[in-house]
Amino acid sequence: MITLTRTGAAENVALIALNRPNALNALCRQLMQELSETLLKVEHDSSYNVIVLTGNEKAFAAGADIKEMAKLEFADVFQNDFFNNWDTLSHITKPVIAAVNGFALGGGTELALMCDIVYAGENAVFGQPEINIGTIPGLGGTQRWPRFTNKSIAMEICLTGDRLTAQNAKEVGLVSKIFPTQQLVSEAVILADKIAKNSPLIVKTVKNSVNSAYETSLNQGLQIEKQLFQSTFATNDRKEGMTAFAEKRGPKWAGN
Ligand code: HXC
Repeated sequence: MITLTRTGAAENVALIALNRPNALNALCRQLMQELSETLLKVEHDSSYNVIVLTGNEKAFAAGADIKEMAKLEFADVFQNDFFNNWDTLSHITKPVIAAVNGFALGGGTELALMCDIVYAGENAVFGQPEINIGTIPGLGGTQRWPRFTNKSIAMEICLTGDRLTAQNAKEVGLVSKIFPTQQLVSEAVILADKIAKNSPLIVKTVKNSVNSAYETSLNQGLQIEKQLFQSTFATNDRKEGMTAFAEKRGPKWAGN
């Protein structure tokens, strides 16, 4: 239900595709287990620098599998922790770019919210329709929307289940760029290549620092940033980057 393809100019981009087309990539337990395993495999393989997460042209993911969930009782989801590894994506330290074509509803939107950069195809549709089936977002929708946008937008999205077009999603700040559907994945890989050219060590440090902005007060965040900035002076890649600039040549990253 998941495909992993090595791509990019330097063959260091992992293209991970959700592949359950008959159900519009609905997130069933098996798909999420495979996604979690694939993400961890890529995270621990130093030959991959950046991840692009996508679906197909019709659907990124139409949400958690409603038919699978319909049978569950409270004890299944609480005691057996049914959704226990569904947030692996939010713990990945390599940059993750979402390339969203088609439906990204419920858990599909929430997967996009866990990514670092979201590119959308012109036909992308986002939304949190859980309210329409008697439940609420469970993969971060009620928490990330208000942090990434504002209370009014988050409430409207989660209380109505209304859908957002790619343009709406760009206006509220979820999506950074929109591309024609068929070009989307190659544009995401071009972006991945641009990021993958930098030192993986420093890329990881940037991601860590930006993410701390969502967890801290401004003063704590500025302190974390300062410490991380100072820590780059303990790396060979920082030395190489500045030396290469002074010597008017491109840097050669050692990754340490
Ligand atoms: C199970 C789904 C599904 C889903 C689509 N399918 N979405 N199956 N769970 N979330 C299946 C359909 O049953 C159908 O299977 C096939 O995919 C094609 O879907 P259609 O409905 O026929 O397609 P279309 O008419 O184009 O409508 C597309 C759609 C609609 C608007 C996306 O399928 C839809 O509303 N899906 C549900 C969206 C949703 O409510 N998502 C939130 C889920 S809750 P058959 O076998 O009939 O051909 C959630 C909570 C996350 O995500 C929290 C987790 C912790």
